[in-house]
Amino acid sequence: MSGSDRRPARDRRSERRSGVDRRTNAASTPPREREDAQAEERRSGDDRRNEATWQAVSIDASPATFDSDLVLLAAATDARTRAQAHYSHFQVGAALETADGVVIGGCNIENATYGLTLCAERVALVKALSDGHSIFTRIAVVADTEAPTPPCGPCRQLLWEYCGDIDIILGNLSGPTGRFRLSALLPMPFDRRLLG
Ligand code: THU
Repeated sequence: MSGSDRRPARDRRSERRSGVDRRTNAASTPPREREDAQAEERRSGDDRRNEATWQAVSIDASPATFDSDLVLLAAATDARTRAQAHYSHFQVGAALETADGVVIGGCNIENATYGLTLCAERVALVKALSDGHSIFTRIAVVADTEAPTPPCGPCRQLLWEYCGDIDIILGNLSGPTGRFRLSALLPMPFDRRLLG
């Protein structure tokens, strides 16, 4: 700051924030053009709510599975029979496998407030963690849908936090419908590495 700048500190602070020199009112691009250019960058003519414009992971996943996936899917199918899905009637079962081969089941548990609903995947995960398990390899998820039912966003985040890049085996009542690595479903995770 030059000693000859006698303007109130308030004016000098506001100049630093705006990037505009108030004494000359100079900016590299006139404000109106700058706003137009920024708006143009943001715009795309597409209606982003239109499924055709989505670039999500394809749900036409290869249903290739190992025999042991079928065992895990059977455990998820069994857990599903205990689903407490009184409101959505959408019953889901999950089975989480530990590195030493223990399988922990979970089902969705709903509540009259709706918002307190627990997904099957998260139920399996919290059961496993509270029983002292810490290393996981796969999770199977079963719902009565033709297309694969993948874990929801919050479940992906929690599975990533506690399980890392595990295999996700999806199935319905007739068998496997898809197999993914979690990193394919959550390609840019927020995790402890970003906390510095
Ligand atoms: N649900 C799960 O339990 N897991 C999923 O992967 C998707 C959704 C449950 C939550 C709720 O009880 C019901 O399915 C409908 O969304």
